[in-house]
Amino acid sequence: MEFFLDTADLDEIRLAGKQGLIDGVTTNPTLLSRQGGDWKKRMQQICDEVDGPVSLEVISPDAEGMLREAEELVRYGDNVVIKVPMTAEGLIATRTLTGKGIKTNVTLVFSAMQALLAAKAGATYVSPFLGRLDGIGHEGMEIVSQIRTIFDNYGYETKILAASIRHAQHVLDSALVGADVVTVPYSVLRQLMHHPLTDSGLDAFLADWNKLTQS
Ligand code: E4P
Repeated sequence: MEFFLDTADLDEIRLAGKQGLIDGVTTNPTLLSRQGGDWKKRMQQICDEVDGPVSLEVISPDAEGMLREAEELVRYGDNVVIKVPMTAEGLIATRTLTGKGIKTNVTLVFSAMQALLAAKAGATYVSPFLGRLDGIGHEGMEIVSQIRTIFDNYGYETKILAASIRHAQHVLDSALVGADVVTVPYSVLRQLMHHPLTDSGLDAFLADWNKLTQS
């Protein structure tokens, strides 16, 4: 399974890169606005830093506007993936971009049927939002599992990118149901690294080593 980092924070991207943990990055307007500053410069820095796909989101409501934005965004690098909302206009933009050989990530997906439509439009990735679905009392992972079955039934090559990840269990379950990619905030990546038995085991080894070397 591929790991993308869901962030616009360059320090997090560099750290996860050193740890060999990221295959790509997803951004969105909220993540970019959290960082503040010159967003164009930041998009450029992220695309330069990451050796893998970087999703940059369009914000126009209509396909024409989305396509105009996409033309600008692809200039940031060969690794740019255009993030398009799951709307009727977004599907037109997805189909057009795919026809031009530009990669797309259809975002804000909350049902298996939306994912199927995105795949039919030729999306490279679909992003079901697990945490937000769980937040309104739905079972987000059920959607991922349904999408996996549908894509396998019909041989769609669109990749399932599990998004809106809140905790380590989301990552484990995404892997178990066969998501192709999971995009995680750095805080969740940190959760994945830690286990209390690793910490206590390390403490015990250090204590014993000190006893040995100081006797
Ligand atoms: C995915 O590409 C999105 O950026 C992200 O996962 C959104 O999740 P949120 O619910 O944390 O905003």
